[in-house]
Amino acid sequence: MPALQIKPNVYWVGAIDWNVRDFHGYSTPAGSTYNAYLVLDEKTALFDTVKKPFASDLINHISEVTDPASIDYIIVNHVELDHSGALPEVVELAKPEKIICSPNGKKALLAHFHREDWPYEVVETGSQISLGARTVRFIETRMLHWPDSMFSYIDEDKLLISQDAFGQHWATSERFDDEVDQSELMYQSAKYYANILLPYSPLVQKLIADVRSRGLAIDMIAPDHGLIWRSSPQRIIDAWERWSRQESREKAIVVYDTMWQSTETMARAIAEGLQETGISVRVMSLANVHRSDVVTEILDSRAIVVGSSTINNQMLPRVSDLLCYLKGLRPAPKIAAAFGSYGWGGEAVKQINAAFEEMKFEIADDGLRVQYVPTTEDLGRCAELGRKIGTLIKERAS
Ligand code: FEO
Repeated sequence: MPALQIKPNVYWVGAIDWNVRDFHGYSTPAGSTYNAYLVLDEKTALFDTVKKPFASDLINHISEVTDPASIDYIIVNHVELDHSGALPEVVELAKPEKIICSPNGKKALLAHFHREDWPYEVVETGSQISLGARTVRFIETRMLHWPDSMFSYIDEDKLLISQDAFGQHWATSERFDDEVDQSELMYQSAKYYANILLPYSPLVQKLIADVRSRGLAIDMIAPDHGLIWRSSPQRIIDAWERWSRQESREKAIVVYDTMWQSTETMARAIAEGLQETGISVRVMSLANVHRSDVVTEILDSRAIVVGSSTINNQMLPRVSDLLCYLKGLRPAPKIAAAFGSYGWGGEAVKQINAAFEEMKFEIADDGLRVQYVPTTEDLGRCAELGRKIGTLIKERAS
């Protein structure tokens, strides 16, 4: 994929990672991109770099546009290594006049690369620099999602370079939002929000209000991952605002792991009970579905029902993994219930309930346990649990 002009004298010079399948616990079956942007003006500026193994792609793409040695400023909007890994190599080639970053960005760059001799220039919210015909304004976006994160906004191009914000992990040969399948684009965007931004939702709300109050005219958003929003930048801002409110709908997920299909049979019966009350249900087996896809479905669910068999007095490891991951993402409280089959101890239900309590979920039921294989009567109790949760879901909407 060659360098691509996205605005007059503004180029995408990033890299496409077709092969990455895991982003520290987040599955990326469609790969990702590490976007970097080059602006040619009286001063030549590079906004972010790429993951270290892709340094040559970045340098080749810059070279298609200009001599890398002509880069005057490198703007580090975000220090995480998927965007700064290639920085030492670029600094070596470009010998830039300035490396521009936020106050926390400087601290993070020093802690990553240990280079006191780099020409740092620290900028804060409200700072601006001139590139010649263009002015770049900076807005710190602390903890979205790292302390160092910031936006760069170019007035003359109405271009917001947003680092991780508004991105997706999706490797494509297309670079713009209007060139790809729209439902996949929004699914990948929601997955990205649910798995990375969810814990910072109150800060996302503040940031969007802040950006609105600045009255920035934005006609393009260029994130550091995935597609560039040129046809409808407002659409992704609105989606982020909606996701940050964590609005739920009449939807439940039944997620489980099972040893001998008894817990699975219970899951299906609970789902049928939910369906009887008119609730939209997703049934997800952790043997087949990745934790990050479960979390994506949780984003707009009003209830979560978690099932596990008991093994060696514990819940199954995949269930424990999901609950640990979910706890870190600090979702808004959900209606919750636990279930599972057991042989002699049956501790899993109690342990799942303890995790629900830690997350301040509304536990709808003490939990449903069945010894070994469910009887018809047991499955009736499962369906009854589903109906009970479905009724609560509807009550919470009113
Ligand atoms: Fe894409 Fe927070 O790095």
